[in-house]
Amino acid sequence: MMEKLKKCLESVRSKTDFVPEIGLILGSGLGDFADEIDIKASVNYNEIEGFPVSTVEGHKGRFVFGYVGSVPVVIMQGRVHYYEGYSMQDVVLPTRLMGLLGIKTLILTNASGGLNKSFSPGDLMILTDHITTAVPSPLIGRNLDELGPRFPDMSEVYSKRLRTIIRDTAETLAIPVQEGVYVQFTGPNYETPAEIRMAKSWGADAVGMSTACEAMAAKHMGLEICGISCVTNLAAGISETPLNHEEVQENAAKASANFKLLVEQVIINIGRE
Ligand code: HPA
Repeated sequence: MMEKLKKCLESVRSKTDFVPEIGLILGSGLGDFADEIDIKASVNYNEIEGFPVSTVEGHKGRFVFGYVGSVPVVIMQGRVHYYEGYSMQDVVLPTRLMGLLGIKTLILTNASGGLNKSFSPGDLMILTDHITTAVPSPLIGRNLDELGPRFPDMSEVYSKRLRTIIRDTAETLAIPVQEGVYVQFTGPNYETPAEIRMAKSWGADAVGMSTACEAMAAKHMGLEICGISCVTNLAAGISETPLNHEEVQENAAKASANFKLLVEQVIINIGRE
């Protein structure tokens, strides 16, 4: 895996020497955020040797390097999901690659289904913690000692400092935000009502098919992490209607203006600290 990562790093470095401070992974509905920044370089995933390429419709696959305000960033426009058939190690390879490219901070975004009764479709939620019990850990297998320890601490995956910045930024922008625990399931099917009841009893507020594994790999490397989720629907059994991908995409698109505004200003405010 380390060899593969180093090959990918060489491949990206042969195309750009841009050094980002913040990495951003774009979830559903946020994809075009990357088109709107001051772009200095971009590298398509299919130009990177050994890189897992996403198959989901509507997901562009490239790294965008550039500036948000004066903050150097790398943005993943399109992520890789476990349900596409990749190993967890491959799913987190892009996250690790961003770490090797120089980022100190990772901002994760996604779409999720809401379990918490006080959530409504379109809400934005700051991740306070996550539950990964329902998916394999990306850290299973020989430890990559160059990246981090065998038994990494996970007591504060989503940095308190960054959560405060997000909350303060949202308040200044008058964008309402919720807070809660995210649980990752494998997908690609949505959950059953019984699974949602189980997840609720575990203490989860929102459910999705990404993010927690990437946060685990980033935490292993010692990155400072935060996450914002767009609650696009009420989860199965809570929603009165069957779930579908179109509804998720529509609600993600509706929330995208606020989502983009918040993410942009959060990056600028993190850069200021
Ligand atoms: N479940 C899992 N993933 C999701 C959902 C959901 O209800 N909504 C958006 N992504």
